[in-house]
Amino acid sequence: MNTKSVVVITIDGPSGAGKGTLSQLVAKRLGYHLLDSGALYRLVALSAHNLNVNFQDEQAIADVASKLHVKFDTTGDATRILLVGEDVTDAIRQESVSMNASVVAAYPKVREALLQRQKDFAQLPGLVADGRDMGTTVFPNAQVKIFLTASAEARAQRRFKQLQEKGVAVNMDELVSDIKARDDRDTQRATSPLKPADDALILDSTSLTIEQVLSAILAHVR
Ligand code: C5P
Repeated sequence: MNTKSVVVITIDGPSGAGKGTLSQLVAKRLGYHLLDSGALYRLVALSAHNLNVNFQDEQAIADVASKLHVKFDTTGDATRILLVGEDVTDAIRQESVSMNASVVAAYPKVREALLQRQKDFAQLPGLVADGRDMGTTVFPNAQVKIFLTASAEARAQRRFKQLQEKGVAVNMDELVSDIKARDDRDTQRATSPLKPADDALILDSTSLTIEQVLSAILAHVR
């Protein structure tokens, strides 16, 4: 497949900016495929944990990444994520996995091991790619690039609400400091740090609703 002929829309930004929800909505609206690249880093973290791999050992974690046996099951409305046949859709969203995902994502060998797997998602009629380095590293030739951001407090507040709705007890101060720790790791790592591509449209969603952000993205795509 010549990936240049496939329309690619990249949506990058920090944790909790609303990329996941927005990417799903844009993909659905346009009938495009969806790449949730964060899920791949989460799967590596979960898998490494399950296999008792040492998180300090970059090569061992990269081996886990290159052997990742994952299936994105898109039958029905929601995507289910299967790791060696087991449904881990909810398990990979736990806070401990989020933290470990940002640790494994800082290893260049892990990023290299996941690169081609991500590029392969570019299939006709088009792809919406959600992540941190979609517009800068994985799809530098994407036709449309969005960088979606929001203040750390607004992002923590959204996460707080989501967790509360699920009945999970959380502490707001801890959420803010976790989000800031992940931001620091994502922006300061040497390989593919989180930053807007030079040709990205930067959208700050701090005081916007999902509908407002969706309209702004679709207007930009058009
Ligand atoms: O987007 P999500 O929060 O699911 O991503 C989990 C972690 O994976 C992030 O904190 C980030 O460290 C890493 N990640 C990345 N590059 C991507 C997507 C996610 O480094 N393209």
